[in-house]
Amino acid sequence: MVSRSRCPRKAILPPALFKHPNLNLNLNPNSHNFLATAAQITYNPPQAACRACARAASSHPYVNPQLYQLAKSALFHLDPERAHSLTLAGLRVAERLHLLSLVAGQPVSDPVTVMGLKFPNRVGLAAGMDKEANTIAAFGHLGFGFVEVGTLTPRPQPGNPKPRLFRCIPQQAIINHMGINNPGIDRGVENIQATKNFHGVLGVNISKNMVTPNAEANHDYVSCLRAAWDVADYVTVNFSCPNVPNLLELAQADSAARLLSQLKSEQANLSTDTGRYVPLVMKVSPDMSESQIEELCHVFLDCQLDGLICTNTTTSREGVEDHPAAKESGGLSGKPLYNRANETLEAFAKGLRGEIPIIGTGGIFTAEDAVGKIRAGASLVQLYSGFIYNGPPLVQAAAAAIRDMR
Ligand SMILES: Cc1cc2nc3c(=O)[nH]c(=O)nc-3n(C[C@H](O)[C@H](O)[C@H](O)COP(=O)(O)O)c2cc1C
Repeated sequence: MVSRSRCPRKAILPPALFKHPNLNLNLNPNSHNFLATAAQITYNPPQAACRACARAASSHPYVNPQLYQLAKSALFHLDPERAHSLTLAGLRVAERLHLLSLVAGQPVSDPVTVMGLKFPNRVGLAAGMDKEANTIAAFGHLGFGFVEVGTLTPRPQPGNPKPRLFRCIPQQAIINHMGINNPGIDRGVENIQATKNFHGVLGVNISKNMVTPNAEANHDYVSCLRAAWDVADYVTVNFSCPNVPNLLELAQADSAARLLSQLKSEQANLSTDTGRYVPLVMKVSPDMSESQIEELCHVFLDCQLDGLICTNTTTSREGVEDHPAAKESGGLSGKPLYNRANETLEAFAKGLRGEIPIIGTGGIFTAEDAVGKIRAGASLVQLYSGFIYNGPPLVQAAAAAIRDMR
């Protein structure tokens, strides 16, 4: 039994929450480095939420949406990239202190086998959130059935100059031209090896270095596949990032066929050598014509691709035309992407005739959006922008809605 005034739920939250009436703080309010102080903040939620606290403790899925809205209102005052790194650092601390399951409850259980892998539920974290692969266990505790880390490239790279990440808040969208900043595949693999307490499926998203010409891209992808083989449950080939010059040329049918057949042959060799099969997944852009999709479907079927992710971000600015950030180059994600990504998903689902499973990504903000992806032909879904705007409650709600759909 949890009393109203002494709910045990604790969280690590930013300093902008110092004055909130439901939060008891025991840290220096002048400190801006809340992570360094590892400040513990006691949250006194209303009666109903405390009952839910008790439910969470007895293993029912429960996430407190209010708590996330409080954290979000503070984080959205910060520069987006800073908010991102603070959030991930906070999640790592909270995970180490075993606080996340108190906030998020038990992950929704809805086991499903896709690509020969057993997923605990159908909702995953999309690539780009955990670029360094060092926050995997925390995302698992927030209810994700699978986490895709990266994108990782053979050598570390800094990405594009800042600022390169922009929120379009009224439109619930994000524009980024990060340029695949990452610590390199070797560091990523070390971080994965150091991960404890993750029970979901792990995807490793790979790409070529920015400086590698397209003609030599295959070497980069193959070397990343080799490096990730022992630690990945599946490997995603990112050849659809709009922030790497000319990368999308690799999605022309003949280039895609060359890349994929080389990767499939390396996959066969590695599989023979190790006795373990790691499925290969390609991640596509939402900006392709119908004929390009048709051609790619033939390539994917011929090469016996294991899985597909629909979709990456779009270069379109439809839905954010009036926002000042619309003039920024790069990929748009979030709510305005939903319909476009679903059209691409439906077109691929038709062309692939159910022979290659699809992971639906792009613009999921509600449980209904997630169900819509499954109805459009996806076997699994991934979140990115919706998770930024709606937080952990979306993960559990989406997973439960998919589990319960008829
Ligand atoms: C800031 C940001 C960084 C991203 N970085 C990557 C990346 O490194 N690799 C990748 O494959 N996709 C990346 N994505 C794309 C997402 O994985 C996802 O496909 C896309 O955002 C659409 O989903 P959403 O509308 O739920 O955000 C990134 C997206 C955002 C917003």
